[in-house]
Amino acid sequence: MRGPHAPPLRGSLPQDGEGTRSVPGPGADPAWGGPAPDHRAPSTLADHEQKARELLDPTAWAYLFGGAADEITLRANQQAWQDLHLRPRVLQDLSEGHTRVNLLGRTLAHPILVAPMAYQRLAHPQGEAASALAAAVLGAGYVLSTQASVLLEDVAPLVLGEPARGPLWFQLYLQSERDRTLGLVRRAEAAGFEALVLTVDAPVQGPRDRERRSGFVLPPGIAAVNLPPPHPAAGARGSLFDNLLRTSPTWDDLAWLRSQTNLPILLKGITHPDDARLGIEHGAAGLIVSNHGGRTLDTMPATATLLPDVVAVANGKVPVLVDGGIRRGTDVFKALALGATAVMLGRPVLHGLATGGANGVAHVLRLLIDELEIAMALCGCSSPDQIAERHLHA
Ligand code: FNR
Ligand code: LAC
Repeated sequence: MRGPHAPPLRGSLPQDGEGTRSVPGPGADPAWGGPAPDHRAPSTLADHEQKARELLDPTAWAYLFGGAADEITLRANQQAWQDLHLRPRVLQDLSEGHTRVNLLGRTLAHPILVAPMAYQRLAHPQGEAASALAAAVLGAGYVLSTQASVLLEDVAPLVLGEPARGPLWFQLYLQSERDRTLGLVRRAEAAGFEALVLTVDAPVQGPRDRERRSGFVLPPGIAAVNLPPPHPAAGARGSLFDNLLRTSPTWDDLAWLRSQTNLPILLKGITHPDDARLGIEHGAAGLIVSNHGGRTLDTMPATATLLPDVVAVANGKVPVLVDGGIRRGTDVFKALALGATAVMLGRPVLHGLATGGANGVAHVLRLLIDELEIAMALCGCSSPDQIAERHLHA
């Protein structure tokens, strides 16, 4: 069922240890006989971003990488990780080190998952098929958006067929009618998705000024292919409160959703400790601290500053994940030091998609995993469970 722009995906992904091992040590120095470095090849996530910007149409760029309103939260997310300082310990035993973590009863190779993002075929013709395959090969969990531009039935087998894969989750936006929501849930269950990520921070889209100024519209052939055609009321004029928000989800809908499926449900977009408490009371299997990458309510604080209060409420009862502005292995390390079990990576995955399809995404993930290992080694941690608040400089 893949579209005409989707050639076969297998064959040339970098394998474990390939591609980015030029990062540390004298082994990579050309003076020692290694290959001459290609100064145009991306060697950081920021390099992928710059290259993606050169390649993408400016209106697609505005949609994919913009944020809400003045983009204050968008900028704050990255800045907040940078503002945290690390406090290493030295001469620790690093033998038998690893990046494995446990999440919802399963061991992951490392604590990095791919965040749900809509319309990935804007970044590359293979879209979600390419990002999902790359995530699976690199052992990263993958979350497919409700608004994906590839059929969920086509994405799932690419991930499920990969022995090294991480978890495969489906991000759910509750639809205005319950039977539409159930239709999606049943399809996700049948395709083999292992959890639902219910996004709760976007009953409406944020005001995307940059996107509107650019004149962005979805190009022909790219659509939210998993959704049935919109309800006739969806396009109605008038105030949001008179239309769309008459059916916006509430905590009762979470209770209903739980009664309809055995899949674990994680809540994405939890930032207030009281909501964390309510989420746990309503049976959430995990909480994801997120401000939607600064795309919904502008001037919300950065997720790095919101995380500790949610971790305190969760108190080990459910795992807490975090996303927003994570661009370096040290950022992943800091998230774990603040109590997150794992992180989700958003825009850098789309940068990788734009620069090289599945290979580009695999390279982005490889870079981040390598950087995390280096950060752990330099902080004196041989496994993620050793990473703690004491590694942050107060
Ligand atoms: C998103 N995000 C998002 N979240 C969600 O729950 N459902 C969705 O369909 C989308 N769509 C989407 C599209 C694009 C283009 C972006 C950039 C983001 C939010 C996403 O899951 C995540 O929370 C942020 O992207 C994380 O921040 P960073 O890593 O992009 O800074
Ligand atoms: C976005 C919606 C799809 O952030 O969640 O673009």
